[in-house]
Amino acid sequence: MKILLINGPNLNLLGARDASVYGSKTLPEIESLLSKKAKELGTELVKFQSNHEGALVDFIQENRRQASGVIINPGAFTHYGLALRDSLADTTLPVIEVHLSNIYAREEFRRRSVIAPVARGQISGLGWRGYVAALDTLVALIAESADVNPAKKTAG
Ligand code: DQA
Repeated sequence: MKILLINGPNLNLLGARDASVYGSKTLPEIESLLSKKAKELGTELVKFQSNHEGALVDFIQENRRQASGVIINPGAFTHYGLALRDSLADTTLPVIEVHLSNIYAREEFRRRSVIAPVARGQISGLGWRGYVAALDTLVALIAESADVNPAKKTAG
């Protein structure tokens, strides 16, 4: 089973961005922690980060057929990335939206997510642990849906 782990703009600079908002772990540190966790859960992560919405859309289109679910931190595209939103909706895969910071406790413009309506759920404000919670939950949700619909077991 493959899960897409996608990070949007500026998240490549984690570690150098304001640590009081985003924590001090770098993206490679978070990714390697998650890869280890994924292995324990018997799944594989396909990781991608880009600062460009089109590149994120291309990655989602190219990988959606091999994937069983998506974990995405869309960065600032959260708030206005409609092409990204459409590409996620088109996958029909379960999507978990993750934010390191609590977007509801910040500026007004961050309180609206155009991704949330096409996501299965959202985790906001738990730092890097939010990604771990997303992975745990997504694997459980995918396993549950395969139990209900055995045809899905062959996907990925
Ligand atoms: C973020 C929140 C966004 O508003 C912001 O643009 C980011 C990071 C988060 O992880 O808290 O780049 O998605």
